Amino acid sequence: MILIIDFGSQYTEVLHRVVRETGAAVSVVAADSDLAPFLSKRQEIKGLILSGGPQSVYAANAPAVDPVWFDGSQPVLGICYGMQLMAHLLGGKVTRGRNAEYGPAQLRIVNEKDCPLPAGLLADQVWMSHGDHVEILPDGFEMIAASEDGLNAVMWDDSRRLLGLQYHPEVIHTVNGKRLIEYFVTQSCGINASQVSSKYLEKSADLLKKQLAEIETGSEVICALSGGVDSTVAATLISREIGNRLHCIFVDTGLLRKDEFRGTLELYRAKLNLNVHPVNASELFLERLKGVTDPEQKRKIIGKTFIDVFESESKKLSHCRSLVQGTIASDVIESSHSSSQAQVIKSHHNVGGLPEKMNMKLIEPLRHLFKDEVRALGRELGIPEDFIGRHPFPGPGLALRVLGEITADRLNLLREVDRILIEQLKTDNLYNAVWQAFAVLLPVKSVGVKGDGRSYDSVVALRCVGSRDGMTADWSKLPLDFLGTVSKRITNEVSGISRVVYDITSKPPATIEWE
Ligand code: XMP
Repeated sequence: MILIIDFGSQYTEVLHRVVRETGAAVSVVAADSDLAPFLSKRQEIKGLILSGGPQSVYAANAPAVDPVWFDGSQPVLGICYGMQLMAHLLGGKVTRGRNAEYGPAQLRIVNEKDCPLPAGLLADQVWMSHGDHVEILPDGFEMIAASEDGLNAVMWDDSRRLLGLQYHPEVIHTVNGKRLIEYFVTQSCGINASQVSSKYLEKSADLLKKQLAEIETGSEVICALSGGVDSTVAATLISREIGNRLHCIFVDTGLLRKDEFRGTLELYRAKLNLNVHPVNASELFLERLKGVTDPEQKRKIIGKTFIDVFESESKKLSHCRSLVQGTIASDVIESSHSSSQAQVIKSHHNVGGLPEKMNMKLIEPLRHLFKDEVRALGRELGIPEDFIGRHPFPGPGLALRVLGEITADRLNLLREVDRILIEQLKTDNLYNAVWQAFAVLLPVKSVGVKGDGRSYDSVVALRCVGSRDGMTADWSKLPLDFLGTVSKRITNEVSGISRVVYDITSKPPATIEWE
């Protein structure tokens, strides 16, 4: 098997997925757990992967491993923090550089002769996310490739079969990353991987069975339905098993896009056989969010309000103790609920935003899947493209996109801008070329000149990104003519907007949503 030691990287679950997809058996263990049982059965471990992590190797209490793992008994792949830790423990020097490297980078191979990998695997774009780097290599290592800034990006010790990568091969934006991991597993570690099923219904069967066993026989169940792909797939999966005992609660939070609630409700009624109950709770959400500007506070308030609404709806049923949510792997990871070493990036409303005490048991059949996997599962279930092909939309909705205070007027202003962006993407056949697109209302005003008069109005940012799973993303290089048309339409058609800017930041270092 391949053993992954997790130092709290945002991408450990992505890494887990990529290794699993090679067909190899794989175990993930937290760096602070007891690794002695694994050391005692070392002959079964054909390869070790050290994940990235948020710490610096020289910080007090930085997680580490026993250097005995580096004695050559099995190949080791150290990624980012994992590479730095290997260098640090073996006598090299790790420092914080003048510049950090986040997002896209190009590698320069400096030592082809000693490179343990087919050269093509290191060519092309890679994805970085680090402040520290290995300045001095430990004895026995060769530098194989450098980043554009000349920093050590790939190091290799041939006698002990230790490979260090400063970048993240596991994320989709590293062009040859998946092939590199496959090479490590099959060639470096010599694992004859077995065939993996590509059917998500099959892969999800065990978890689904366990989750269904949590539901009391004959009881009724509530499902948090948002109109998006995740909750629609979760609802369909469960309703296939328990039929109309599943009550899907579709909440108008007052934080949805223009005409979204009505349009989606019609779509559910026309295209899917789900037992949908619409609930208008917009006043409650907006009242509780009054005056709140802090992003985490907004998320917590929204998470709690959703649960209050679901609990109140569950009381209208005869016997209901369970709540189905379409929580997916990225929600769990970013809320730091996947690993003891990971940091909270943002509290997703359905995980980190939940209240401490709840009267309902959570049923989350998609917790192990990423967005693209949920889409594949949805297609297997026969859910129409109207749902599957939709851009992701976060549960807290426009609350994360109205920066600063949320008021009905500011929401309406944003809705108009957002409508134009989405409409124009569809008109120009670009909607499916981007993974997610939306507008953000900034809490700043700027001066303009309209019809010979001075204006002092709001600024909006447009955010269009490409991604696979939401864990990494790049800004979409949309045609300039398209951007020009959208900007012109927004400033001409929406009064109250003086300026339109386009967000050209990747994730990392930014996130997709602004809050
Ligand atoms: P970030 O902003 O973290 O977003 O790069 C990654 C993906 O997750 C969505 N997102 C959420 N979805 N509840 C959700 O259902 C949330 O609280 C939440 N926060 C972010 C975001 O829209 C993007 O697709």
